[in-house]
Amino acid sequence: MAPSSFLLYFTDHRRLSPPLRPLFFFVPTSLALITTLFILFYIFTTSTLFTYQHPPLTSKPLLGAANESQRYNSLQFDSNGERGKIKITSNNVDKLLFVNPGSGNYVNNNDVFHDRDIFLEDYKEMNRSFKIYVYPHRRNDPFAHALLPVDFEPRGNYASESYFKKVLMKSHFITKDPTNADLFFLPFSIARLRHDPKIGVLGIQDFIKDYILNISRKYPYWNQTGGADHFYVACHSVGRSAMEKADAVRINAIQVVCSSSYFLSGHIAHKDASLPQIWPRQGYPPNIASLKRKKLAFFAGAINSPVREKLLQVWRNDSEIFAHFGRLTTPYADELLGSKFCLHVKGFEVNTARIADSLYYGCVPVIIANHYDLPFADILNWKSFSVVVATLDIPLLKKILQRVSSNEYELLQKNALKVRKHFQWHSFPINYDAFYMVMYELWLRRSSVRVQ
Ligand SMILES: *[C@@H]1O[C@H](CO)[C@@H](O)[C@H](O)[C@H]1NC(C)=O
Ligand SMILES: *[C@@H]1O[C@H](CO)[C@@H](O)[C@H](O)[C@H]1NC(C)=O
Ligand SMILES: *[C@@H]1O[C@H](CO)[C@@H](O)[C@H](O)[C@H]1NC(C)=O
Ligand SMILES: *[C@@H]1O[C@H](CO)[C@@H](O)[C@H](O)[C@H]1NC(C)=O
Ligand SMILES: *[C@@H]1O[C@H](CO)[C@@H](O)[C@H](O)[C@H]1NC(C)=O
Repeated sequence: MAPSSFLLYFTDHRRLSPPLRPLFFFVPTSLALITTLFILFYIFTTSTLFTYQHPPLTSKPLLGAANESQRYNSLQFDSNGERGKIKITSNNVDKLLFVNPGSGNYVNNNDVFHDRDIFLEDYKEMNRSFKIYVYPHRRNDPFAHALLPVDFEPRGNYASESYFKKVLMKSHFITKDPTNADLFFLPFSIARLRHDPKIGVLGIQDFIKDYILNISRKYPYWNQTGGADHFYVACHSVGRSAMEKADAVRINAIQVVCSSSYFLSGHIAHKDASLPQIWPRQGYPPNIASLKRKKLAFFAGAINSPVREKLLQVWRNDSEIFAHFGRLTTPYADELLGSKFCLHVKGFEVNTARIADSLYYGCVPVIIANHYDLPFADILNWKSFSVVVATLDIPLLKKILQRVSSNEYELLQKNALKVRKHFQWHSFPINYDAFYMVMYELWLRRSSVRVQ
């Protein structure tokens, strides 16, 4: 098509009378020139080639300890970008915290679910039909300890990773027939690879690359979608750089991770899902709602980030906000049971087990971790059971929390108690527990793309 119209133009052009010729040459040429300039201008203003992109968060592949000062600088760069947003002041803080029901984005602003009916309906369907294929590995595989579920009850900070796999393998979601599967599970455990002397922190990236290569040669499923219907689950923050030599995993697969920060280049919000970090506990403490909570707010932890430094600097000696740094002399549980609000403050990563800890003890979580892609945010209405405070507003923290009336607090706490079952693991899953919630998040992301 193009060549023939080009030809037409030239034949017409030859027929024109001499005085018009320069004009007909000049007009289209300058139009073309202007168009080109516009295109260049458009590319220049929209392309990332010419604009400043936030730098990779670490200069070297970061494994293990993070360089917080580097990341905080980037964080500030990002906060500047938010200058246009409404600033919380003492005058408007109460309006921002509690939007009237019916005036905002949610079907019911006070409900813990964005949309309870849709969730319950979908959940049933998920529970009935969702199927997962897990790449099989023998007991004598040299990496069996990282690929097979653990044979003990998971504990500690990264238990979520082990619990998920352990419970999944026993669940009715497993299919032995890969042609029946909605999703494929890559069963490697980042936390266990990290402790394997043959792999270690530095070997994880190569391990993942090899693993994907192996399964893509041995089975047809990876190539059919480029990994888009595959997922892995990781709670240790080393996971955030584990996929650096396996781009297809990072870009296509579903990453279910604890360190889910909008700010990490490896995390793609909406494609990936946030895994709650949960310190496993049995049963529930009694009479939680009727406890007298004398302290306004409580935090305990190491000072391992500028956000925590800021908290320390402002609230160190406060009589209502108890911020403990270093070793706590009182029992942790007593503090969580004796405080109205419990602070989750970003450390090395946006995530810690503190949100689940607070909920467990009926303390309303206050989240001070910019860019945290909060767990189950697709399902849960975080405003109904927590208070999210921007890092920049740490100096306003007391005002923000004092403005929560006792009725409002009651509602927040009631809702916190309602959602805590979603932040619990069980060896045999119980409806709506952390395992089922993660399954639901995966179900929302199941792919219908399949190349034959
Ligand atoms: C972190 O990065 C900053 C800026 O690049 C550097 O000045 C600092 O020494 C680094 N700190 C550590 C602990 O590596
Ligand atoms: C989901 O399926 C399991 C196993 O079939 C069953 O025990 C459970 O009650 C189901 N949950 C719901 C909400 O239907
Ligand atoms: C990949 O396969 C090779 C050859 O079978 C094996 O030696 C290697 O351990 C496998 N690597 C991973 C990460 O599974
Ligand atoms: C999948 O693609 C890779 C890379 O193109 C290739 O090496 C591999 O043989 C393919 N796998 C199958 C099962 O065809
Ligand atoms: C807190 O108390 C310590 C020791 O009593 C004092 O050195 C420090 O200046 C106080 N900090 C603030 C922010 O008031």
